[in-house]
Amino acid sequence: MAKKQLRIGLIGYGFMGRAHSNAFAQVGHFFPSSYEIVLKAVCARDAAKAQEFADRWGYESIETDWKKLIARKDIDVEDIAVPYNLHAEIAIAAAKAGKMILCEKPLALNSKEAEGMVKAIEKAKVPNMVWYNYRRCPAVVLAKQLIDAGKLGKVFHYRANFLQDWTINPELPQGGAALWRLDVKAAGSGVTGDLLAHCIDTAMWLNGGIKDVSAMTETFIKERKHTLTGKVEKVGIDDACAFMCHFNNGSLGLFESTRYARGHKALYTFEVNGENMSLKWDLHDLHRLQVFDYSDVGPERGWKSIHVSDGDHPYTGKWWVPGLQLGYEHSFIHQVVEFISGLESGKGAKPDFKDGLATDYVVDAVLSSAKSGKWTKVKQVKA
Ligand SMILES: NC(=O)c1ccc[n+]([C@@H]2O[C@H](COP(=O)([O-])OP(=O)(O)OC[C@H]3O[C@@H](n4cnc5c(N)ncnc54)[C@H](O)[C@@H]3O)[C@@H](O)[C@H]2O)c1
Repeated sequence: MAKKQLRIGLIGYGFMGRAHSNAFAQVGHFFPSSYEIVLKAVCARDAAKAQEFADRWGYESIETDWKKLIARKDIDVEDIAVPYNLHAEIAIAAAKAGKMILCEKPLALNSKEAEGMVKAIEKAKVPNMVWYNYRRCPAVVLAKQLIDAGKLGKVFHYRANFLQDWTINPELPQGGAALWRLDVKAAGSGVTGDLLAHCIDTAMWLNGGIKDVSAMTETFIKERKHTLTGKVEKVGIDDACAFMCHFNNGSLGLFESTRYARGHKALYTFEVNGENMSLKWDLHDLHRLQVFDYSDVGPERGWKSIHVSDGDHPYTGKWWVPGLQLGYEHSFIHQVVEFISGLESGKGAKPDFKDGLATDYVVDAVLSSAKSGKWTKVKQVKA
């Protein structure tokens, strides 16, 4: 039977442009479906670089203006892989044009913009998804299965860290193509919107909504030269953030992120402590889930490390043979699997724009609490 085509228009060819393109290219080999992905066009402002990317990754054509990409009738899916200050404008235009939308995280620069994006996709009734890819690591899905099966019993604690060390050098400039993450105009916030957004999305997926937060942030380097203006300018982003929270289920949360933890490159870890079981996961060892099961009896009771690679583990049966591990790139491939499954079932894929908005509400509450020094309620997404 002829497959339906899913014609992709990718906007942005940076880190995520590559991760998504790799996922689009691989997904059909391992997860056959009724859809065929066609890499129709990549959009970037520099035509020569866009063409080089198109040739390397197999896109049929290029555009240098995302508005022209959205206007094209031969594209079904707009994939947004650019800095967050562009997400809302592009996604709202894409929804108006009736396109399906894949958007990188965080959904928007702030929750007000994210609300506008949710309104736009609800009005246009277009399939949508946010690339919170850590939900799609097999070991994280196994954690979700254990929690949903009630194995943990009552949950008391959830804690997560996302630690890096790449901005310690005070000579590092801010802004421009390579360092937009340090420029508050492009990034809205620092580690909170960039790194903690991942931790918050995973946490709410595993442990439910967050009720209120108490946060602190710090900007260690107060001024940096701006790449675009050449002038030394105030740094407006948070270099580090820590917050406590209450989850709606009564458990307590503790989150920390920084780009000043010397030695750590991308140490994303989480731990959940329940009445009957605790779980631990670490991005540096992403194919393993650490489990402590209180019902294990005898002197061998202790933490066990599950190598999540067996045929009955999430997604893994579609890949190699048991014992061979999957990596970072597979989380993006699995995210595309979810998107296609959502189209096939008609139920849509998760996380969707509403989930992205829920995370942006927490991010905004964290930043607001850090400013006021007070506990701050988190706005909840309407069902
Ligand atoms: N899911 C994840 O794990 C993950 C990891 C990294 C980044 N991200 C997210 O992906 C997004 C992009 O981050 P990145 O690391 O790929 O950034 P990047 O700097 O590597 O790439 C950004 C791209 O956007 C392009 N761009 C900027 N303005 C444009 C415009 N007006 N029109 C067309 N293209 C434009 C740049 O040329 C570049 O190709 C951000 O939202 C970021 O938070 C997600």
